[in-house]
Amino acid sequence: MRILSATLQNFRNLDEVSFEFSPSVNLLLGRNGEGKTNLLEALGWFALGRSHMGARPEEMIAFGQDALHVNLSVEEDSGAVVACEFGLDRRGGRRLRVDGEPLKQRAELIGRLVTVVFNPDTIGLVRGAPQMRRQFADQGMAELDPTYLGHLSACQRALKQKTGLLHDLRRGYSANGRGRAELTAWNRELAVHAAAVCRGRAAYARLLEPPLQANHEALAGPPGALSCDYRPRLESVVRRLVAGGGELPPEAELAGAIFDEIDYIMDTEIRRGRPLTGPQFDDFNLVLEGVDLRVYGSQGQTRTAAIAMILARSDVLFGQRRMRPVLFFDDIFSELDRERTRRLQEMSSREHQVFVATARTDDIAGWRPGGLSAWRVEGGRFTAAGSTDEVGTITAGD
Ligand SMILES: Nc1ncnc2c1ncn2[C@@H]1O[C@H](COP(=O)(O)OP(=O)(O)OP(=O)(O)O)[C@@H](O)[C@H]1O
Ligand SMILES: [Mg+2]
Repeated sequence: MRILSATLQNFRNLDEVSFEFSPSVNLLLGRNGEGKTNLLEALGWFALGRSHMGARPEEMIAFGQDALHVNLSVEEDSGAVVACEFGLDRRGGRRLRVDGEPLKQRAELIGRLVTVVFNPDTIGLVRGAPQMRRQFADQGMAELDPTYLGHLSACQRALKQKTGLLHDLRRGYSANGRGRAELTAWNRELAVHAAAVCRGRAAYARLLEPPLQANHEALAGPPGALSCDYRPRLESVVRRLVAGGGELPPEAELAGAIFDEIDYIMDTEIRRGRPLTGPQFDDFNLVLEGVDLRVYGSQGQTRTAAIAMILARSDVLFGQRRMRPVLFFDDIFSELDRERTRRLQEMSSREHQVFVATARTDDIAGWRPGGLSAWRVEGGRFTAAGSTDEVGTITAGD
């Protein structure tokens, strides 16, 4: 898919700005703090229904203004062109429309516009907390199967209730008999949805494997087999995963086994006052030639693996749903060597629309993809810097 054009009003330091984008590569060049990431945040908001930077809505509204508006024209992979619109105001109001029709829930946005962001935090996919890897897999799976998100939310809801109840039971606030019955009910609910989530994560890790190998090899060159192994916390899931050679049994069977496991440790959970197992502790191991990258990876290896993961996610999405996400590269070339940078630039722009934000023209030196559009950004104002000569003369920022 591609973002054909955009109009933004009062989005952070971008007062009023319109763009016609290139279907291939769009370069945003400017010194630090001028508005490059802000534009990417605005373009990506519609994909997630929230800021990829984790910002609260009121933070994105320009200082001194009451509301922001963004209009995008998106070309879907089917060729259909869709008008996407969102507005946020300081009173918490939110307006979401597709082709003029209001959307009621954020979930309706999933799959309309799929964007993938590479920024300096991307490395966290390999090095960071397990939550980042879970989020990656969950988002990837939700793109393939919209019902997955429902199971995930139901899991989170059950866990929240369960956590509150365990806390109360531990402190003796809840009558023991009634509290235990309620806990059993939440455990049952949790087991049903956890089964779907664990199956989804296992399936996603399997789908990811071949494109992960291929992208990693294309970026880093052989040899170097990279794998992403699903590491569930629930013992019942681990055992079945091993027995099934990476596949899990049908949902109902798995749910029964998960319930038995959680039910068995109920007294211990009550004593400790918190859930001790479940899909909220799952992780994925990234292993390069037998070495766990989280522990032993170099900066460049870790970053390359993280980028290969994201490109693999795009390939899975294409393989399963014939959709190509829009890629945002926000200041990411600095830790890759020149060879890997060049390979990434060439690989990504072959099949995707790409937005590249950088303060260092060195990063893009010599890269002149077909259909390139470039802008120079200063204080939230964008000036087209169309010709390659002009791009070449833009000076690096501080
Ligand atoms: N709500 C807001 N209203 C107005 N300006 C804002 C708002 N939020 C952030 N800004 C301004 O936006 C600027 C940051 O823009 P942005 O993060 O896009 O910079 P950048 O070009 O990506 O820089 P870098 O190269 O350092 O990443 C800062 O000057 C900041 O003060
Ligand atoms: Mg930035």
